[in-house]
Amino acid sequence: MNQRIKNLLLKAIILCIAFPIYAQQGGMWIPSLLKGMNESEMQSLGMKMSIQDIYDVNNSSMKDAVPHFNGGCTSEVISPQGLLLTNHHCGYSQIQSHSSIEHDYLTDGFWAESLNDELPNENLTVTFIVRIEDVTNKVLEGVLNTDNEREKQSKITKNISKTVASFPKESWQENKIKAFFEGNQYILFVTETFKDIRLVGAPPASIGKFGSDTDNWVWPRHTGDFSLFRIYADKDNKPAPYSKNNVPYKPKYFFPISLDGISEDDFTMVFGYPGQTQEYLPSYAVEQIINDLNPAKIAIRNAALKVTDEFMRNDQTIKIQYASKYASIANYWKKWIGESLGLTKTNAVQTKKDFEKDFIKRTKQSSKSSDYATLLPEFEQLYKQIAPYSLSRDYFTEVAMRNVELLVVAYRLYGLERSYTTEQSFSEKKENFINAQERFYKNYNKNVDEKVFETTVSLYSQKAPQQFLPEELKNVDVSSLTELIYNQSKLTDYESLKKLLEGNSKEVLKKLNRDKGYIFAKGLIENYIQNILPEYEKLNTQIEALQRTYMKAQLDLYPDARIFPDANSTLRVTYGKVDGYSPKDAVYYEPLTYLDGVIEKYVPGDYEFDVPQKLIDLYNAKDYGQYADNDKLPVNFIATNHTTGGNSGSPAIDAYGNLIGLNFDRVWEGTMSDIYYDPSICRNIMVDIRYVLFIIDKFANAKHLIDEMKLVHPKSEISTSK
Ligand code: ARG
Ligand code: ASP
Repeated sequence: MNQRIKNLLLKAIILCIAFPIYAQQGGMWIPSLLKGMNESEMQSLGMKMSIQDIYDVNNSSMKDAVPHFNGGCTSEVISPQGLLLTNHHCGYSQIQSHSSIEHDYLTDGFWAESLNDELPNENLTVTFIVRIEDVTNKVLEGVLNTDNEREKQSKITKNISKTVASFPKESWQENKIKAFFEGNQYILFVTETFKDIRLVGAPPASIGKFGSDTDNWVWPRHTGDFSLFRIYADKDNKPAPYSKNNVPYKPKYFFPISLDGISEDDFTMVFGYPGQTQEYLPSYAVEQIINDLNPAKIAIRNAALKVTDEFMRNDQTIKIQYASKYASIANYWKKWIGESLGLTKTNAVQTKKDFEKDFIKRTKQSSKSSDYATLLPEFEQLYKQIAPYSLSRDYFTEVAMRNVELLVVAYRLYGLERSYTTEQSFSEKKENFINAQERFYKNYNKNVDEKVFETTVSLYSQKAPQQFLPEELKNVDVSSLTELIYNQSKLTDYESLKKLLEGNSKEVLKKLNRDKGYIFAKGLIENYIQNILPEYEKLNTQIEALQRTYMKAQLDLYPDARIFPDANSTLRVTYGKVDGYSPKDAVYYEPLTYLDGVIEKYVPGDYEFDVPQKLIDLYNAKDYGQYADNDKLPVNFIATNHTTGGNSGSPAIDAYGNLIGLNFDRVWEGTMSDIYYDPSICRNIMVDIRYVLFIIDKFANAKHLIDEMKLVHPKSEISTSK
């Protein structure tokens, strides 16, 4: 037996003994609760810092350097002057908004030479966590154990408002309460939001988005997915709206950056704001995702992407118009494919079923058996009932609200029609609508949309549950319907839409309700609102209530298990080790990539795999400065940290608390970690911090930014002090 297999076996045995049911290393933990829950496991994985270094209420700690970036991504402070690091794909729309034909920062990159050159961004905010407090008792106070879900929820909502209003905070801070464990725990966050955030630097897309959609969710990876911003504050170092007089923020904490890099098996920790996971679903729900919901969504996007791709390849204008939309549709399309494959490959459903058997056994042994014994059969029943509604809902949302642009506009117009109260408010809303659509139509091509309509509406009419099909889609000849709509509807062009909307409400609504595109869309929307949504919501509320009890049952019956709350866009810690993986038989992926791999993938002139000449020159000269690792330049690496959407831009931290990388993606085979984390194939992907520094220093010559940072050598310091 070779050493690697021996190690794997040993690992597996240890895990099975320690965690018989939850034999997994995944987990997204609440930073204020690490002490009891995780400390010893983190130490056994190699952590050398203390839990107070990570989260401390009374002293500055790492959490003071990890703000939520614009509510969606994560970022980290890396200098005493508020320099902020996040992903290129997180700063993408800001970089794009400063770009024009003359200054194409997406293509060429952008580097501010001094503070004066840093670019302000309207509506961009970052939010720090000041304090985390468990307020479960306050929120659940007086909440009676009734079956009336609505009554219960309304009492909870009242308690939440009361607690938010009374919890002590400074005037510029905010209190927010979030539900954990499906509402079995409530936690309050005191936060501070900065509103003057300026763009400092971004590499060209050929580095920051290298590999684009082809490499998205893929390992081995070679992307320099980073951008730099700076937080500005008023003269008292407090949050303030943009002002010329604002100054760089002096953070309570910033990350030192390690130049020593990582090797296989090193401890790593990722600190950030994971958005949403569903780790505690019953097997019935996971079966439905694998068998019905994912395949339907994947097929619709498959059709839409295929059509769009063909147009984009043949027409440069369409390519520019659709690049960002294509990337966004493709992102989750690819994720769902990987998710289904991973769930199948690792037998997630069977593992859940085995767990459920054990769960039933425990309920019978427990005094609470009556509360919990019926949970699983009830789940089974409800998931059976909700199946056609969930599927119909996915067809409607994917086709009418996501992929067919004409239907998306019609949906917004339907909102306008329904929101009529007075003539004046209608006219205001109409004007706002018209203005808001200008950007939409700039990137709209009728021929692309027509073809997407035809292929996806066909799928909808043939594959969606027939009993809930709208009249418009029953026995329909989709190709003549498509022709009719795209010949006659005024929604396919900005000018004709504006004309359609001329006049008072009566005139507008009359014209609108004669438009072939609008009539069709309205039929779909009303069918959805009347025949699908109410029953879906009713069943879903029951499922949610059941899920809350199921969660409570697991906490009760498995007191020693490693149960972590599902992600909910709050600050979490996940940890693991740098580790390769085997995606399939006979294939093993190493955990580190190098610049050599960028050059291997290089396709001159290609929009995904082109490489800037300057980078090629640096490669040829092996001019890597202090960022090299044995003559090679590290680019990306993977580890067993349990991350999800929202963790993009999160700091990857070494055993001592230094920054070693920047999280930006997961490996395709392991995207199922949102539902079921399996340590054999779930890996997060990070940019090696040395690649970030190399690009800033050697590629962009922005040495003044490096000078702001604190670079350290933890490994050599340790070995020389021994
Ligand atoms: N898959 C990564 C994350 O969800 C990166 C997405 C951005 N990149 C792209 N090529 N679309 O969200
Ligand atoms: N790329 C994701 C993000 O943008 C991270 C992930 O899903 O792993 O947050």
